[in-house]
Amino acid sequence: MLNERVLLSIETSCDETAAAIIGEEFTVVSSVVSTQIPLHAKWGGVIPGIASRQHVLAMNGVIREAMESAGVKPDDLTAVAVTIGPGLPGSLAAGVSAAKALALAWSKPLVGVNHLEGHLFSAELNGEKIEFPAVYLLVSGGHCMLIYAAERGKYRLLGTTKDDSVGEAYDKVARELGFEYPGGPVIDRLALTGKERYALPRPMLDSGYDFSFSGLKSAVRRVIDQGDVVTEDVAASFVAASMEVLTTKLKRAVAEYHPKSAVVVGGVSKSPVLREQLGNGALGATKIVFPSLKYSTDNAAMIGAAGWWQFLHNGQIDDHVGMIPRLSLPIAE
Ligand code: KG4
Ligand code: ZN
Repeated sequence: MLNERVLLSIETSCDETAAAIIGEEFTVVSSVVSTQIPLHAKWGGVIPGIASRQHVLAMNGVIREAMESAGVKPDDLTAVAVTIGPGLPGSLAAGVSAAKALALAWSKPLVGVNHLEGHLFSAELNGEKIEFPAVYLLVSGGHCMLIYAAERGKYRLLGTTKDDSVGEAYDKVARELGFEYPGGPVIDRLALTGKERYALPRPMLDSGYDFSFSGLKSAVRRVIDQGDVVTEDVAASFVAASMEVLTTKLKRAVAEYHPKSAVVVGGVSKSPVLREQLGNGALGATKIVFPSLKYSTDNAAMIGAAGWWQFLHNGQIDDHVGMIPRLSLPIAE
């Protein structure tokens, strides 16, 4: 017997087909992620046509597993929530179509969720709480942003990347070194045993909240092109440079805005170096919050939490709403 209301959430913005059953208090009753990584690995990145086809193939099995492992029937659901953007158009379409069909068939409200807002909620699943005001550092394959929120849901963009995201830089550096997509896990693993031997730039380190990672990526390529490099040391040098940029900017925002919580989310928030450098009171009175590792990368649990927030504040979306591939974070001021 469930003791809180639950919704079904669906996420297909990129290369994970995911569904979850999430309680109104952000309890994860079930969370299923079917990753397509093996299909894209050898191509060095996500191939959109392969991704959308695979979402369609995996969708019913993933939803069924989320419902069955939660012991939930359609009648038990309060709503269906789905990622409407940003993301790959064909990937988003697969999830939005499935969610629309289920909401129609089961006569449930349909809730549209912004994928970026989903990441912001990923640190608050299963009873974890952040306090406001908060500063978020969102570091994923698609985004690199610093966001200030005076209260939940009221976002102000402090800075964003002028070119590549940090996850993209990880993926490109891994590719230069001959590793498959995604680059984050392999680069982080190699960096653990490497030495910071190569001098690399820290782009835009000295001022402001914007980021730039394409120059760093090119500098790594020049090091590799010189030949005779130690792979682990390249990884360690790249990780040191990119993490120094992230931690410096986050600390700058903490010093200026004195938030109660600093929240680091998105795929790159898995980085052990980032977690270590920001731990142990590195931010003074500001509490540092990370999602649990399984909710750092794309998943439907975070979409369910953001879905509850949207449902309770903005209600359902209209029948004519479709996917919005270039959707940006709603900015309040
Ligand atoms: O959040 P996410 O799953 O997808 C987007 O919304 O973009 O993030 C994926 C990104 C990839 O670029 C991947 O290389 C990076 O996160 N990533 C990591 C790690 N695991 C994944 N980056 C650093 N360290 C990791 N352990
Ligand atoms: Zn994501």
